[in-house]
Amino acid sequence: MLRKKSIAVVGILALAIACMQNEQDKIIRVQEEEQTSFDVSKFTGNINRDGRMIVEEVSEAFAGFLGKSIAEHGVLGSIGFCNENAFPFMDSLAHYYGVNLKRTALRYRNPDNKPDTLDRIMLENMEKEAAQGAEPGPKSIKFSSGESVYYSPIIMKPLCLQCHGIKMRGDIQDEVWAKIRELYPEDVAYDFNLNELRGAWGVLFPNEYRARRGKPDPIAIPK
Ligand code: HEC
Repeated sequence: MLRKKSIAVVGILALAIACMQNEQDKIIRVQEEEQTSFDVSKFTGNINRDGRMIVEEVSEAFAGFLGKSIAEHGVLGSIGFCNENAFPFMDSLAHYYGVNLKRTALRYRNPDNKPDTLDRIMLENMEKEAAQGAEPGPKSIKFSSGESVYYSPIIMKPLCLQCHGIKMRGDIQDEVWAKIRELYPEDVAYDFNLNELRGAWGVLFPNEYRARRGKPDPIAIPK
């Protein structure tokens, strides 16, 4: 119980720090907190490998909770899951891995996910790759400060169509559409097709990053 609370609080702190960041220097400070037991064998300290692993685990966790929420509360009832939980959930996982995490997209729903200059360059590059028929791949960038950022494409899956799919085709139910418009009046994150590039995960590694984290467990999920 106690741990759950402290992780949630740290999540909020991390979010506050992330919000205060200057877009120019992209420096991410990660809370240095007590480290408990981690399955370090899975993590190597190499940002490309760890970045891929983190994205795999985080996107799996996201899709898993979203799928469960849809099964229990329906699509309409799950918009709240994304609305209220996406940020705290991401932040608690980020803290768990000792990195900072973001989801961003050229066409975004929540303006808090708006791409910064570097995000935009990376996303446009992925779009270009996709337009040429290639599968956009992950990319990483190392800054002279020692920080690194790993970008990984987010691709549309069947589940996603229900909230990001093609409106005219009827992918998004009317009541779901109405709720999305109400919560996000400026939303442009729809009319995506299956397998289309939806956006990207960004994993920001601090320069003191060491492979030190294991698989997140359910206590990282905020209520
Ligand atoms: C139940 C509706 C719903 C489903 C299903 C859904 N999303 Fe979303 N998605 C949302 C909402 C609502 C937001 C805004 C969350 C927030 O406020 O941060 C969002 C935000 C996002 C973002 C962040 C960028 C932005 O547009 O703000 C990405 C990327 C994304 N979704 C991808 C996906 C993918 C990929 C899937 C399928 C695995 C998916 N979504 C399924 C509702 C949904």
